[in-house]
Amino acid sequence: MIWKTRINQTTKTKYPVIMGAFVGLGKTDFAAPFSEAGGLGIITALNFKSPNHLKKELEKMKELTEKPFGINISVLPPQVKGGHHLTEKSKNEYLAYIEVALDEGVKIFTTSAYQATFIGKRVHEAGCYWFHKAATIKHAISAEKADADAVTIVGLEGTGFKNPLTQTTLVNITMARRLLKIPIIAAGGIGDARGFLGAIAMGAEAVCFGTAVMVCEESPAALKLKEKWINEDIFTEDYHQKIYHLKLRDTVLPSMAVGHRKKIIPIKDFIEEIMNESERILRSWGFTAEEFNTIS
Ligand SMILES: Cc1cc2nc3c(=O)[nH]c(=O)nc-3n(C[C@H](O)[C@H](O)[C@H](O)COP(=O)(O)O)c2cc1C
Repeated sequence: MIWKTRINQTTKTKYPVIMGAFVGLGKTDFAAPFSEAGGLGIITALNFKSPNHLKKELEKMKELTEKPFGINISVLPPQVKGGHHLTEKSKNEYLAYIEVALDEGVKIFTTSAYQATFIGKRVHEAGCYWFHKAATIKHAISAEKADADAVTIVGLEGTGFKNPLTQTTLVNITMARRLLKIPIIAAGGIGDARGFLGAIAMGAEAVCFGTAVMVCEESPAALKLKEKWINEDIFTEDYHQKIYHLKLRDTVLPSMAVGHRKKIIPIKDFIEEIMNESERILRSWGFTAEEFNTIS
């Protein structure tokens, strides 16, 4: 089946699936198999201590795959560890990473966490695309006003930074579809084909996988951690308190998506499983076309 949404037509990927950003882990050996499998692999730029280190990584990425990939810059807000108010100096430090990526031919730039309009402007000047990630609808609307080409909204079921006003993935995506014109990428708790298709039905034009891909074979996370995550009991009060009551703070916790991941498998198998099963479900509902196209 051929998948066509505004997102995968922009990213030029076979499937409308995007890899999350991963502090410490989002490097080529993890991102290249994601791109090879038909999704958009993402290199988390600030995992490299200088723009020059990022340049070497991007060169390596191009040796590993000819498929499209993107980078992420997480602009840390002052209220989190390592974050600060933006100054001209800090903006220029972030922009130095963007320049290197532009030189290396990167076309898709994802940003997250804090104000990133200054990055979006530079990316647009260069004729490339800027996708921002938000934890609330309010911030998603701000991203659209700031001219982002797409917005990823992470629901309460997901992991990563949370805002006290974070909503569930269902509320986020259905409401954002009503309120925004730009394409939406759904994130938060998605780990199987029904979650993928559900997000598309709610109005998303791609899905971003974080936790589900973290427990794949090529993820550089320690095997022990992956085993712990796939065995996480997501139905305990302790887990519920952490994931839904903002007690995540500085601890990285698997999201509700691990409820769907019971085996450590290669990224290619994970993505194929989602896409093949999605096609099977669509067929079982009577969908007969060869192309699944959400662009109207
Ligand atoms: C280990 C780990 C590290 C992460 N690091 C970042 C990061 O540096 N920047 C960011 O924007 N999101 C980060 N995230 C969040 C993911 O990019 C993604 O938005 C989130 O995991 C989606 O929810 P899901 O886990 O339910 O799929 C991280 C997630 C995990 C699991």
